[in-house]
Amino acid sequence: MPNEIKIRVNERMWTVESAPDTPLLYVLANDLNLQGPRFGCGLGQCGSCSVLVNGVEARSCRTPVSAVEGKSVTTLEGLPAWYAAQKKLSVVPEMHPVQQAMIDEQTAQCGYCYNGMIIKASELLTKTLKPTDAQIRTAMNGHLCRCGTYPRILKAVQRAAQKMGEAQARQRAASRREAQARQRAASRREAQARQRAASREVKSE
Ligand code: FES
Ligand code: FES
Repeated sequence: MPNEIKIRVNERMWTVESAPDTPLLYVLANDLNLQGPRFGCGLGQCGSCSVLVNGVEARSCRTPVSAVEGKSVTTLEGLPAWYAAQKKLSVVPEMHPVQQAMIDEQTAQCGYCYNGMIIKASELLTKTLKPTDAQIRTAMNGHLCRCGTYPRILKAVQRAAQKMGEAQARQRAASRREAQARQRAASRREAQARQRAASREVKSE
């Protein structure tokens, strides 16, 4: 029996008519017309349908739509904005660093598994900024690539981790410079105020 269900996807509220046990993947693809999550096995075993639910990777083929009510779903389409919000960036980048790294390393062959690979790697790099190869292998273990592009995926995730680390260092340096500039401006204002007070005292004598 279809119900009216409200879900938040990519920071936008949607109301869908759906049976509560409908797989989230069907709602994303058919009702919201989102093409990022892909139907692969339909059994929760390949990862091609992955999305983030409150920042945690979930298989949308095995997640009933009613289970995400009151939660925040992020698909591949919303990943750059999700990243920008996490890192407090003033501008949303065109791509998440993992997406960019996958392109830079020319990892994809048919590309079918890449939705899940990118979603999972993004989740990993949120929790572990500098993962080892072993940590990447463990995290990505449940994501299958029938083209066998695993070595290139590993390289791309390491590349994204490095770029994210560099961006974070730049952001920290910029915040430090801003704080120092604010401090200097405050000191200048205090000195000027003292000077004005001193010249008022001189005039009144
Ligand atoms: S389609 Fe969902 S895990 Fe394979
Ligand atoms: S690139 Fe073809 S399934 Fe992964």
